[in-house]
Amino acid sequence: MEGVLHILFCFLFVHKIYAAEFNFLSDSQFLTDKDTLVSETGIFELGFFRPNSSENRYLGMWYRNISLRTVVWVANRDHPVPGASPLTLKIVNPGNLVLINNMSVIWSSNTTASENATAKLLDTGNLVITNILLGNYLWQSIDYPTDTLLPGMKLGKDYSRGIEWRLSSWKSNQDPVPGEFIYEANTQGYPQFGLKDRGVVKHRSGPWKIERFGGISFSGMILTFMINVVVKPGNFEHLKYP
Ligand SMILES: *[C@@H]1O[C@H](CO)[C@@H](O)[C@H](O)[C@H]1NC(C)=O
Ligand SMILES: *[C@@H]1O[C@H](CO)[C@@H](O)[C@H](O)[C@H]1NC(C)=O
Ligand SMILES: *[C@@H]1O[C@H](CO)[C@@H](O)[C@H](O)[C@H]1NC(C)=O
Ligand SMILES: *[C@@H]1O[C@H](CO)[C@@H](O)[C@H](O)[C@H]1NC(C)=O
Ligand SMILES: *[C@@H]1O[C@H](CO)[C@@H](O)[C@H](O)[C@H]1NC(C)=O
Repeated sequence: MEGVLHILFCFLFVHKIYAAEFNFLSDSQFLTDKDTLVSETGIFELGFFRPNSSENRYLGMWYRNISLRTVVWVANRDHPVPGASPLTLKIVNPGNLVLINNMSVIWSSNTTASENATAKLLDTGNLVITNILLGNYLWQSIDYPTDTLLPGMKLGKDYSRGIEWRLSSWKSNQDPVPGEFIYEANTQGYPQFGLKDRGVVKHRSGPWKIERFGGISFSGMILTFMINVVVKPGNFEHLKYP
């Protein structure tokens, strides 16, 4: 790791005169300053930002075409980077995507591969790290939702992988650290979803029974999305489609 950080440290002194747009990151590329990773048809963009003129910087994903920056995912929401020293996003060791500031790792995907890996932003708003040799995903951002559920994303639990997909609000529009509100699955008894305010349930979907959640009525409403619930041993998920 030390060797890698040393090389990165040298990169930081390469003066950049323009912001580059990448379609993917391989072992030999890195993102810094105003560089961005752009999805195939340009729907989403990943880069560094300061929310609403905060002092802190974050690695985040937003809609490229919406001029009022609309952030849908944040990597280091718990680890803000104050100041102006360069942030660098890079794949190291191969297969581990890391965010580095001043030679220390701020955020890491914690993944490894035996050979080169690439990081790519999909048009669905999913940042994926692909094992080049096997073609599988080592990691994907939709397994770590922040406050936004995009079409195709899941909420619920995957017991086999120990993953819980839940939404948590930003603390304020200046600070993406998890705030008061959480929307998550409750799998005691018939599964259902609940909105909690500092741990206190404010809204429940009611248990899922056959075709709908007991406590939600869609009659009279125009359906702009569809709920798809999957309950099977070891897995409970809830998807919304536009
Ligand atoms: C973004 O906006 C431009 C200009 O309005 C438009 O031509 C382009 O198709 C849009 N791209 C996407 C991905 O929506
Ligand atoms: C943050 O955004 C809100 C509106 O979303 C605005 O009223 C406020 O002035 C902004 N604060 C700063 C420090 O930019
Ligand atoms: C970088 O880290 C070193 C050691 O922790 C510290 O002395 C220095 O002030 C930091 N520089 C910046 C620009 O944050
Ligand atoms: C990577 O591991 C660290 C230390 O265990 C943990 O704090 C962090 O949340 C992990 N990152 C991801 C993306 O899971
Ligand atoms: C891995 O990266 C090295 C250096 O960038 C390159 O020479 C090699 O062809 C890559 N291997 C694969 C399997 O892509």
